[in-house]
Amino acid sequence: MSKKIFSGVQPTGNLHLGNYLGAIKNFVELNNDSQNNCIFCVVDLHAITIKQDPIELRDNIRETVATFIACGIDPKKSIIFNQSTVAAHSEAAWLLSCVAKIGWLNRMTQFKEKAGKDKEKASIGLYSYPILMAADILLYDSTHVPVGEDQKQHLELCRDIAQKFNNDYEVEDFLKAPEPLIQKEFSRIMSLKDGTKKMSKSEVSDLSRINLTDDKDVIINKIKKAKTDSLPLPSSASELSERFEAKNLLGIYSSLTNSSLEKSIKEFDGKNFSKFKEKLSQVLVEKINPISLEIKKLINDKKFLDRILIDGYEKANKIANLKVKKMHEIMGF
Ligand code: TYM
Repeated sequence: MSKKIFSGVQPTGNLHLGNYLGAIKNFVELNNDSQNNCIFCVVDLHAITIKQDPIELRDNIRETVATFIACGIDPKKSIIFNQSTVAAHSEAAWLLSCVAKIGWLNRMTQFKEKAGKDKEKASIGLYSYPILMAADILLYDSTHVPVGEDQKQHLELCRDIAQKFNNDYEVEDFLKAPEPLIQKEFSRIMSLKDGTKKMSKSEVSDLSRINLTDDKDVIINKIKKAKTDSLPLPSSASELSERFEAKNLLGIYSSLTNSSLEKSIKEFDGKNFSKFKEKLSQVLVEKINPISLEIKKLINDKKFLDRILIDGYEKANKIANLKVKKMHEIMGF
């Protein structure tokens, strides 16, 4: 059965290895399966839930498109567009916000993390962000949503919103509850400086992440400086339960080489970190360096990138407008 794939990435700069291994790598595989209809959205409306510099935002939107292409997404096979160009997203988000419950949003852990201690000062957009995300997905009758593990709760909320809308308005299966596509392993890549924290764009230290624009020397240096512990590499996965940094680095290696954690553990059993780090840097450079070079090349071709977004807008806008129109009819407008 053909799948309708939808996913989004925020254009907030510093797209990193976590975005790649947790999400974009999966987008590429789904895009390569001709049975699938894929839509990949640059979610600029989500980006502004935290204040953005308008000039940087514009550049970051193009850089995100360049990253999609450099990673291997083919714009001829998938729709790539930016969210703010399709007005139906904002509109559907409002309609759905009248269905979703405050109690549901109050449970969202990402808001709690992002808002920090002073929640009163967070934007309302940051709070209602998962409703906009539900609108993104539901407008396209998406069946599958590839994301990293951190988005799981938002997808559960999206399913709840779809069900509540269908129940409230007695329209069985009008909004389709999507399946999350979260990789079984390595769906949460951690910081290189602290194996208990997620690798993130917003972390102050650049040494905490591998950016997809990092060059060879930067990658080697970051892996050299990545936090480890004083023990040799383990002989079994059970020894990793409290060794967060070792587990993360072995996970990154496994994901990049498409092997299981067990296989990687066997490969480095009892070795010291310097040997392992050499090999890890090598596979990282092999994977990331070509992507980084391609992003830097594409970023100069604004016309090409803008063309992709315009084509994507035209296709996405048609689908989304039809759905939002039907929502209007159902809701009594
Ligand atoms: P964003 O922009 O924060 O991240 C984009 C994708 O990268 C994944 N990701 C990670 N995966 C593994 N390890 C990490 N350290 C890591 N950091 C990020 C995210 O899970 C995500 O898949 N709300 C979304 C964007 C969004 C969206 C949507 C996604 C808006 N609308 C509709 C799917 C469907 C977000 O902020 O992703």
